[in-house]
Amino acid sequence: MSDKNAKLIYPAAELEIGLKVKKAVIGPSAVDISTLYRDTGLLTYDPGFLSTASCHSSITYIDGDQGVLLYRGYPIEQLAEKSSFLEVSYLLLYGELPNTAQLADFSGIIGHHTMINEALKTFFDGFHYDAHPMAIMVGVVGSLSAFYHDSLDIQNPRHREISAHRMIAKMPTIAAACFKHNVGEPIVYPQNNLSYCGNFLKMMFATPCEEYQPDPIAEKALNLLFILHADHEQNASTSTVRLAGSSGANPFACIASGIASLWGPAHGGANEAVLSMLEEIGDVSQIEKYVARAKDKDDPFRLMGFGHRVYKHYDPRARIIRAVSHEVLEKFADSNNPMFELALRLEEIALQDEYFVERKLYPNVDFYSGIIYQALKIPRNMFTVMFAIARTSGWVAHWMEMIADPAQRIGRPRQIYDGAPLRDYVPLDKR
Ligand code: CMC
Repeated sequence: MSDKNAKLIYPAAELEIGLKVKKAVIGPSAVDISTLYRDTGLLTYDPGFLSTASCHSSITYIDGDQGVLLYRGYPIEQLAEKSSFLEVSYLLLYGELPNTAQLADFSGIIGHHTMINEALKTFFDGFHYDAHPMAIMVGVVGSLSAFYHDSLDIQNPRHREISAHRMIAKMPTIAAACFKHNVGEPIVYPQNNLSYCGNFLKMMFATPCEEYQPDPIAEKALNLLFILHADHEQNASTSTVRLAGSSGANPFACIASGIASLWGPAHGGANEAVLSMLEEIGDVSQIEKYVARAKDKDDPFRLMGFGHRVYKHYDPRARIIRAVSHEVLEKFADSNNPMFELALRLEEIALQDEYFVERKLYPNVDFYSGIIYQALKIPRNMFTVMFAIARTSGWVAHWMEMIADPAQRIGRPRQIYDGAPLRDYVPLDKR
């Protein structure tokens, strides 16, 4: 019996070819077309990768129709309720939840790497005081390879692991330093007896003049947001990291490319854009007008924080954030938070609107995350940076999985050429 259980028939070229179907553990199977060009001279066309699996992965599973998200098989709801961000990072990297000793060991290793080389601090001075922190992040993270080249042999699994640890550990330090640069305050050194999130809060908000103790509710909220943002299978930034890494580029450069991709408003930049949009809407009475604009195909305006390539159901991460928003807002914002009220009303109106219902457009993770960040006094231009800190654990897990995969090859898409056919050069004076 043939193991080719799909068939491509193309009568115009008198072509009939058997194709293998690769089965997934859960979720859609995939027709393997990797030898299609070699066997037939035909390419496939799928802009935006709507129907294309670019790799095998055992890290994260999403069922977009049911609103399910699993990290290494564990439901996001259980991880969000019971685990810590470093526990989740370990899970993403190594495939299993750590036991007590493993978690203590991992936390110690990450703590050991939280400082950045002193010379790196001078990089921040080169940026204008109001530079967007994501712009600083792309540059500074990319430059890490100039400092940590003792572990850049990507064929060496131990080197890969050290680089992964360094990135998870240093990202909060760099992120907080971006903020300190923006506000003109001295960079605060990490303090490793604090939790990952507590340490980040301290590096953000402490000054040399006063004692600082992170607030446990803020720490808990941050821990939750970081868990929810830690991974999301082959999204644009993770695919960017994989594509950059497929050429053998060093991991710091790959993560810098992921940060650049994350910045876009259709991806991680949406959390910042949601708050700007809510501010622009300003009042419940204006919602109908903006919903009408979002539906108007001649208007580029979209409801930020709505819709998702994979979820055609309520994003489970948004559901979790929405549920905890009240606790955080009660503690840190005015009990009557106008942005949250506006967001709740906007969601209610959009979810009853035929346009959004028909297209299965629901609030995504970014719809509510910015409201919590704002309550925690994290400035708007830092929202996507927060996303980047959390997503680093997913990026490095995917990068490590890819490099260790024997099927890994340089990522090199093809194209359908639409340009001029062969023609002769015309001398300047004849044009
Ligand atoms: N507001 C209004 N219409 C929308 C929206 C929206 N936010 N999102 C999608 N649509 C419409 C779109 O115009 C299209 O309509 P039609 O079929 O009439 O042409 C239809 O819904 C399908 O949209 P699409 O653009 O083909 O879907 P996509 O999978 O290419 O894009 C998306 C997904 C997330 C980029 C898009 O929904 C969007 O731009 N949302 C706003 C930005 C946002 O919130 N991004 C954060 C994503 S979650 C965090 C992350 O993973 O980065």
